Amino acid sequence: MKTSLKQTQMSNWKEGRKILLGVTGGIAAYKIPGLVRLIKKSNCEAEIILTNSARNFVAPMALETLAGRGVWSDENFDASIPHIKLTQWADVFVIAPCTANSLAKVARGIADNLLTSAAVAATCPLLIFPAMNENMYANKATQENIKILLDHGVKIIEPSDGALACGVSGKGRMPEPDEIMLEIFKALHPVHDMTGKKVLVTAGPTHEYLDPVRFISNPSSGKMGAAMARAAWYRGAEVKVIAGPVEINSYGFDVVHVTSASEMLEAVRENSAWADYIVKAAAVGDYRARSFEPQKIKREHKEFLTLELERNPDIAAEVGKLKRPGQILIGFAAETQNVSANAREKLARKNLDYILANDVAAEGSGFATDTNTLRLIPKDINKAEKIFSGLKEDIACEVWSDVVSL
Ligand SMILES: Cc1cc2nc3c(=O)[nH]c(=O)nc-3n(C[C@H](O)[C@H](O)[C@H](O)COP(=O)(O)O)c2cc1C
Repeated sequence: MKTSLKQTQMSNWKEGRKILLGVTGGIAAYKIPGLVRLIKKSNCEAEIILTNSARNFVAPMALETLAGRGVWSDENFDASIPHIKLTQWADVFVIAPCTANSLAKVARGIADNLLTSAAVAATCPLLIFPAMNENMYANKATQENIKILLDHGVKIIEPSDGALACGVSGKGRMPEPDEIMLEIFKALHPVHDMTGKKVLVTAGPTHEYLDPVRFISNPSSGKMGAAMARAAWYRGAEVKVIAGPVEINSYGFDVVHVTSASEMLEAVRENSAWADYIVKAAAVGDYRARSFEPQKIKREHKEFLTLELERNPDIAAEVGKLKRPGQILIGFAAETQNVSANAREKLARKNLDYILANDVAAEGSGFATDTNTLRLIPKDINKAEKIFSGLKEDIACEVWSDVVSL
């Protein structure tokens, strides 16, 4: 199968992509209007093919309204050869949900309707989301068909365990539309050059509790770490995230949640040997309360409250000490002054390979924003420094392009 759009600019590789969406007659088709909305919201185009059976599960008019164009079905399977034209148009062909029946047909090259004919004709990447009752999924014939498709280079997204429409709980659930969208973007990513690589990312703030109800922290949202993690996942890496107390879209990642800097250090120590790349994007608190008050500190009769703080462990420096040959360490430096000089000093002191210097005082940069401006400083002084500005998720793609190619 052809790798689509190798020459796509990394910063806009998601925009305007052409998604051919095949919908078959499974109950999970009720989720498809939500998916079409997300495709449109992402500024991508969708052409939709329904099997006759799918029309019983999702109304063509709902999909036409959301897609802003007509949908295709066997009624249009005529001399205009839509099965060829649609697959030539598409950057990716997604079948969601895919019934046991359609899966079997595509695996065996049976082209007896518009959707299966298009699947047999497709030269773009084919992404299939099987969804069915757990016994149908476990059936030997279905499993053999999946194996055939995998051998043919088709990407199959395993259904998850959960409540199924047939009233039982088991393996057969189609992912939610936002998760399908992530898989589509992964399939569309211009390169998968981190396949087989393991990436450990720390993200978010830490909370250092003073008493049971109060903590010291910072405004980190975890967005930059999450963007680095997602961008590595799009490129094919296996990703583990150690996250402070923030919400991270964890689809496709293994996430370890921690609260304090000490817990984060412990989790990093446990996982650091596993990783080929370690990205230290968490905003770890530098200090914690010297003593934790087991009862809530009362305000009565206290005009002033003095806190005694002690220094937290330096996680990046600890990881630097544990670094094994070939492992790449990427740190972040959030600074408000002398950004470059301070970042260079950290790079050397913490045994990092790269540091991303971040002027958190600059407009639209730093904590809790969707945008950032970062200076990528390599340890190797023969390599050029680069400045990236824009959406955090776009910057993350550019950073990996640089780090992986170097
Ligand atoms: C109410 C109902 C729900 C169904 N749900 C599924 C399903 O989730 N997955 C599946 O593989 N088949 C399911 N089927 C069976 C398919 O609809 C049937 O195999 C059909 O022939 C599929 O046609 P298609 O693959 O051309 O869309 C269901 C059938 C009915 C009546």
